[in-house]
Amino acid sequence: MATILVTGIGGPAGQSLARQLIERGYCVVGTDMRPVEMPGVIVHCVPAACDPAFVATLRALTLESGADLVIPTVSEELPILAREQNWPALLALASYESVWLANDKWLTWQRLSACGIDVPRAMLPSHVQSADHTAQTIGWPCIAKPRVSRGGRDVTLYQEPEFDELRALDDRFILQEFIPGAEYAPNVYIRRTGSDIVVPLRKTALKQGLIGNAVSVVYEDAPDVAALACAAARALGLSGALDIDIRRRSDGTPVVLEINARFGANSAYAPEVLSALLEDSGLLQG
Ligand SMILES: Nc1ncnc2c1ncn2[C@@H]1O[C@H](COP(=O)(O)OP(=O)(O)OP(=O)(O)O)[C@@H](O)[C@H]1O
Ligand SMILES: [Mg+2]
Repeated sequence: MATILVTGIGGPAGQSLARQLIERGYCVVGTDMRPVEMPGVIVHCVPAACDPAFVATLRALTLESGADLVIPTVSEELPILAREQNWPALLALASYESVWLANDKWLTWQRLSACGIDVPRAMLPSHVQSADHTAQTIGWPCIAKPRVSRGGRDVTLYQEPEFDELRALDDRFILQEFIPGAEYAPNVYIRRTGSDIVVPLRKTALKQGLIGNAVSVVYEDAPDVAALACAAARALGLSGALDIDIRRRSDGTPVVLEINARFGANSAYAPEVLSALLEDSGLLQG
């Protein structure tokens, strides 16, 4: 029986992944910053990704547990682990450069626009001149969100009368055109060679109503969303399992909001993605 180490096992992505792996008969070992209880899983507490002891601790746990594959699900861990060479097991992570681009929403936006991929109009707070200039560049209302973040933290919708608050933000934020239409979370698996897998899931309800994480998702046959998701992933040079956020403009055009270079919270609705990773890792059972 293969052993798979899942990081962030207490989080939404890690928990869902661990459940699926246990159901498929794998031995699962977990890590998390907080103590987590999960039946059938040994969970180890690890330091935060930014702690200098994080890498050595995870390396030791990988060896100790005899893990065949390590699947990181914590955003902060990705750019740190993607730099590691000679990991003592397979590491389900894309190249350092692509993970670095995906980690910062401004760098993602710049690369995608340069590659002709549809994205919301965007700028940095330091580019802001006046309320009129903002109207011309990204329009009102607009979205401000931290460039490096997750879980919809500090994502704010600004109306024109709130211009002074918008102007007070610094360049750790990105400002984007507000995209009002349906939101999707395509779950994608990009093979280094061979055909991609993409499962277009539509978010049927969002945590904060107008914006936020998906409360529920449903499969929707949306070939334009699927094609955009794959093109965006390839433009960043990403590979492996990805969780992408896409929204439709009022005219229906899909645009890419962001790319997470890891499994997302809804991967149970796209089991093909996990199957593809296990197959590519030589660990597909049954
Ligand atoms: N330009 C935009 N137009 C409309 N809604 C947006 C826009 N950008 C972000 N949002 C909303 O805010 C949510 C969070 O934004 P985003 O996914 O970019 O940040 P995040 O914090 O990395 O999210 P997560 O880690 O939960 O996927 C999106 O799922 C969406 O509902
Ligand atoms: Mg998101």
